[in-house]
Amino acid sequence: MLAQCYRLGYTIYYNKVMPLQQLVATIDRKRCGHTTETPILHLLEEFPMRVFVTGASGWIGSAVVPELIGAGHQVIGLARSDASGAALAAAGVQVQRGTLDDLDSLRSAATASDGVIHLAFKHDIAFSGDFQGAADADRRAIETFGEALAGSDRPFVIASGLLGLTSGRVATERDAPDPGSLAGPRGATAQRVLSLSKHGVRSSVVRLAPTVHGEGDNGFVATLVGIARNKGTSGYIGDGSNLWPAVHRLDAAHLFRLALEKAPAGSTLHAVADEGVPVRNIAEVIGRHLNLPVVAISPEDAGEHFSFLAGFLALDSPASSTLTRELLGWQPVHLGLLADLDQGHYFTNKR
Ligand SMILES: NC(=O)c1ccc[n+]([C@@H]2O[C@H](COP(=O)([O-])OP(=O)(O)OC[C@H]3O[C@@H](n4cnc5c(N)ncnc54)[C@H](OP(=O)(O)O)[C@@H]3O)[C@@H](O)[C@H]2O)c1
Repeated sequence: MLAQCYRLGYTIYYNKVMPLQQLVATIDRKRCGHTTETPILHLLEEFPMRVFVTGASGWIGSAVVPELIGAGHQVIGLARSDASGAALAAAGVQVQRGTLDDLDSLRSAATASDGVIHLAFKHDIAFSGDFQGAADADRRAIETFGEALAGSDRPFVIASGLLGLTSGRVATERDAPDPGSLAGPRGATAQRVLSLSKHGVRSSVVRLAPTVHGEGDNGFVATLVGIARNKGTSGYIGDGSNLWPAVHRLDAAHLFRLALEKAPAGSTLHAVADEGVPVRNIAEVIGRHLNLPVVAISPEDAGEHFSFLAGFLALDSPASSTLTRELLGWQPVHLGLLADLDQGHYFTNKR
């Protein structure tokens, strides 16, 4: 009973009182000619929530956790193994053992929370050929969270991607995902999450740049470094002028917190710091650090050279985050992709 009252208090505060206070703060700021946040907004951000996080042990999740705990929130994390559970416990997370397929467990954890951040994705099966299977599991988990949170006005934030969203121009938060793109099924799931806003869920989708970089990254850029080592050349496809957006992991983690705390229902947000880095420039930095020649690979030979990465590496996918910055006051502060590569940590371990 006490817990219910507590939760109802949160719901009223976050969804009724907070938007009003933000409006007042915004008006005050404009009247005073201020461009920085007022202290009242900082106070609001410190209001603690009990947050259920899936994928808390992953690359992005392990940055989101300290970001949330540092802001005073309590984190309950889904862990599918003893190792992930131990890592979460060491990070100060209350562990909920289970997998994405334990829908009852997801439902009860969401019901008992003040908000959910969903980061888990079955990359293991997705990258071994069953992308549809991974996307189906993701959809079932999301439907379960949607049912559990319906009518509560509580926040529900998911991770999605923006690679291939548009071609030949800068994608914005207003662009809907292309069902025919490489990540089509995930785009459909994201649209489902946004539509939960009509069912009393403060849902939002964080579309991450394809490169979420930082020390310890094992994603696309790290794979590119590994391919360069193996081939003895640092390659790009065609003239390499196609653009990849990027974001530092810590900036992305901060955006997830802001989305949880204050994104209006139905928001699409872009975790993008570098709007578009030419792939050739990425190859050049890699070549310089590994002391390898930088070479153009023809589109015909790209599959053989880059394996599964070829389809992604050929995309021209610039994206902006102007609307996200305006909406939430998010400001990336960490190194951009090329400067981060220049730190050298991508080249210290054999990948
Ligand atoms: N990293 C990027 O550059 C990037 C770019 C665009 C979008 N995204 C999206 O952002 C989200 C987070 O990505 P990430 O890079 O942090 O991924 P990651 O490092 O691969 O972490 C995935 C997380 O999901 C958990 N997980 C996987 N399968 C599970 C299952 N069956 N049941 C329960 N948990 C499971 C993993 O648990 P274990 O620790 O036990 O393995 C891990 O915590 C994903 O949706 C991803 O597709 C990432």
